[in-house]
Amino acid sequence: MSQKTHEILNDAKSRALIDDETYQNWYQESIRDPEKFWGEHGKRIHWFKPYTKVKNTSFTGDVAIKWFEDGLTNVSYNCIDRHLEKRGDQVAILWEGDNPYDDKKITYRELYEQVCRLANVMKANGVKKGDRVTIYMPMIPEAAYAMLACTRIGAVHSIVFGGFSPDALAGRITDCESTFVITADEGLRGGKKIPLKHNTDLAIKIAERNGVSVKNVLVVQRTAGKVEWFAERDIWYHEATAAAEPECKPEEMNAEDPLFILYTSGSTGKPKGVLHTTGGYLVYASMTHEYVFDYHEGDIYWCTADVGWVTGHSYIVYGPLANGATTLMFEGVPNYPSPSRFWDVVDKHKVNIFYTAPTAIRALMGAGDHHVRKSSRNSLRTLGSVGEPINPEAWEWYYNVVGEQKCPIVDTWWQTETGGILITPLPGATRLKPGSATRPFFGVQPQLVDGDGNVLEGTAEGNLCIIDSWPGQMRTVYGDHERFIQTYFSTYKGKYFTGDGCRRDEDGYYWITGRVDDVINVSGHRMGTAEVESALVSHDAVSEAAVVGYPHDVKGQGIYCYVTLMEGQKGDDALRKALVAHVRNEIGPIASPDKIQFSPGLPKTRSGKIMRRILRKIAEDEFSALGDTSTLADPGVVDDLISNRQNKK
Ligand code: WT7
Repeated sequence: MSQKTHEILNDAKSRALIDDETYQNWYQESIRDPEKFWGEHGKRIHWFKPYTKVKNTSFTGDVAIKWFEDGLTNVSYNCIDRHLEKRGDQVAILWEGDNPYDDKKITYRELYEQVCRLANVMKANGVKKGDRVTIYMPMIPEAAYAMLACTRIGAVHSIVFGGFSPDALAGRITDCESTFVITADEGLRGGKKIPLKHNTDLAIKIAERNGVSVKNVLVVQRTAGKVEWFAERDIWYHEATAAAEPECKPEEMNAEDPLFILYTSGSTGKPKGVLHTTGGYLVYASMTHEYVFDYHEGDIYWCTADVGWVTGHSYIVYGPLANGATTLMFEGVPNYPSPSRFWDVVDKHKVNIFYTAPTAIRALMGAGDHHVRKSSRNSLRTLGSVGEPINPEAWEWYYNVVGEQKCPIVDTWWQTETGGILITPLPGATRLKPGSATRPFFGVQPQLVDGDGNVLEGTAEGNLCIIDSWPGQMRTVYGDHERFIQTYFSTYKGKYFTGDGCRRDEDGYYWITGRVDDVINVSGHRMGTAEVESALVSHDAVSEAAVVGYPHDVKGQGIYCYVTLMEGQKGDDALRKALVAHVRNEIGPIASPDKIQFSPGLPKTRSGKIMRRILRKIAEDEFSALGDTSTLADPGVVDDLISNRQNKK
């Protein structure tokens, strides 16, 4: 891996909020005395009733995590009302449509009115504090209004990415027993329509069969495409909000009241409902947004994520709006109408801070430099990356071609569970190394351990744990606290285990090497191999399946499936196609298998455990280094797997 170091850029240095010395001092203080550090920084948001207790957290026993526990606040108040006096007429949300001629500017005052109206609609339909509201929306301003309206009345939102299937949506509605859904008639991405309302109708039928009955569906009209209408249940968003009052008092929420649930994949079982709470989350999201991106008043900030993922929660909506920023929300995709779309938008809106994913960077790098060079990108000052390890080649391209060696790159490592960024450079303060997420943010204590839990000091490679709490940390798995403890705090007792492998170099910099569990990262989308396997075996022709990731030039990892068929089934291309369609149906297009290998046998130990290590090697086309195969029940299956491999180089 590249060990090239980039000096701190002078431009970044002269404007930086934090220099290296301040970083060192603040970091030391945040570890030495977290009470004092966070007690001070917690004041960056408005509290109706100030907290007197700061930190009350334990990673052992019941794993109880509480921050600012006696404070009262409200997220929508902090993201909107607080700014009205000073910047009521400033643009809060700068919306860029899928179609380049479609855009909208929403000021803080307009945001206030829209959110209040929607909050009143929800209240009028019986949504109360603590109720769960499912949001299944395209990237339109109404998605942000919906999130903020929930927080205004104390409802807990659960956003489901618009690319998920009706089945996946149904599972999430059922798990959190959500009876109010907000969606749109259709989504629009890259010129293609996504039938969100139709999917919602199907999902509600499935949820009904599982005992959860959705009372209302609020529908935004995005495309005016044809939808089925259930008059008892469905409500047009534009009609209801037009008739509602434009004022709604924000609910006073306890710092530890639930804010949102977001489902994410793990190595086993169904996706988990990651629960974040109010006060600590907002403090952490806003503080990281300011310092990691070196956000200054008046900056135009753009994060290209979708609100269906945690990045959209923390760094499109909550962090930026809490800081009174102008946040750009993009409905489309990087290559529509052409691969210069990102840079056209940067020039059009004079974007200063740009935050995207390595998979997009690699895809655009592949499309050719001319798509970048024809734009000026003069406004850019900070570039960010998130979602998966960024390979040094893509890093250099981002730095040299997109940023023209003028913008520091912040490679930000974090997770749905962490609420905000944990390991990252700070612009103007941190020397950069391409491919390294560099150093911990304030209050974050990373630790590397070996497989037995022994702590590794100095230069080392191991499993990444965090040994003390930070305010943005998830509090529980919704409805299953035991699973929370088991998943994150039992592998290494008393430590939060991230599931990532990591190396620490001689400068104390962290290099994330990728997941060490059965989770794969496909185009920055996190997926449990077990979920794809269970989708495959739910097909009539399949008796058994094993899924692994393999290196993919653009996606980071591709999905490689070993499938054992039922007696009498024929493994041909038609069945391959059917299986791909089936998985897309069960989970969504993001889970589409890239390779399917029909394999009469899978490599198993005598006790019946599938040896994934071997399957990973064969998928990588690295079968000369299969390692020890002596524990296999039938070593013969390996030869067959190798000769029928689908990824020959
Ligand atoms: C997993 C979390 C957090 C926002 C998006 C993903 C990987 C994330 C980086 C990075 C290397 C990264 C990790 C992590 N990851 N950012 N900068 N460098 N790996 O959230 O879906 O919860 O996935 O994404 O493997 O565990 P998520």
